[in-house]
Amino acid sequence: MSVLEQIDKTKVPEHVAIIMDGNGRWAQQRGNQRIFGHKNGVKAVRAATEAAGELGVKYLTLYAFSTENWNRPKSEVDALMGLLVDTINSEMETLLKNGIRILTIGDIGMLPVRVQQKLNDVIEKTSKCNAITTILALSYGSRLEISEAAKRMAMDVLTGKILPEQINPELFSGYLYTAGIPDPELLIRTSGEIRLSNFLLWQLAYTELYFTTVLWPDFSKEEFYKAVLDYQKRERRFGKTSQ
Ligand code: FPP
Repeated sequence: MSVLEQIDKTKVPEHVAIIMDGNGRWAQQRGNQRIFGHKNGVKAVRAATEAAGELGVKYLTLYAFSTENWNRPKSEVDALMGLLVDTINSEMETLLKNGIRILTIGDIGMLPVRVQQKLNDVIEKTSKCNAITTILALSYGSRLEISEAAKRMAMDVLTGKILPEQINPELFSGYLYTAGIPDPELLIRTSGEIRLSNFLLWQLAYTELYFTTVLWPDFSKEEFYKAVLDYQKRERRFGKTSQ
């Protein structure tokens, strides 16, 4: 039986998050510049989105650019920003045809204005799409997200909008970039690194973690299916016993 055939279509995670890692190494292994890896990474973004859509995943969050990635050489940052704009331009029709809604999380105001405009455009144009929501984490850092949430909550206490005793995990979740989006059931990280790198630290509290040594540009639909199958074999107890 193929991996796809083994997947129980009634137990597909509603939300899958991915740390797309290994583009640079993939390019270096081929004697190429890092950006060559990022360009090929776009193909894997397409494959993951297709696989997720076909399985019935409702939310796919992709870690495309972290707050720490601003420290990379300017040439690489510029190339990544350009790639993002080019990809949105070339994929717009496909997004609309396949009902893919785009959202972003992160410190979007840090991005170059033309990138912000392009993102606003794709968010607006795909806002009625309802097959799958692809969430791009851009200039995203979990600690920044959490501290910004705390700041806005403190402001709401100061202005009397909420009382300190009302603060609980549910209320706090509503102040995060991911307000209204269910927590991921499955996190995938490629390239053999086994860490979270400041990604969705709050939201991943009960998430199943799946690590693969495959470098992101080699991540195919089959690799996505393997991760979902692995997830389905696990017993999710949320701190309870299996009884
Ligand atoms: C990590 O590989 C990858 C990134 C920092 C960027 C991911 C971007 C894309 C896949 C392309 C654009 C995205 C979209 C959504 C259109 P790395 O550079 O850290 O690789 P390394 O660890 O081998 O150096």
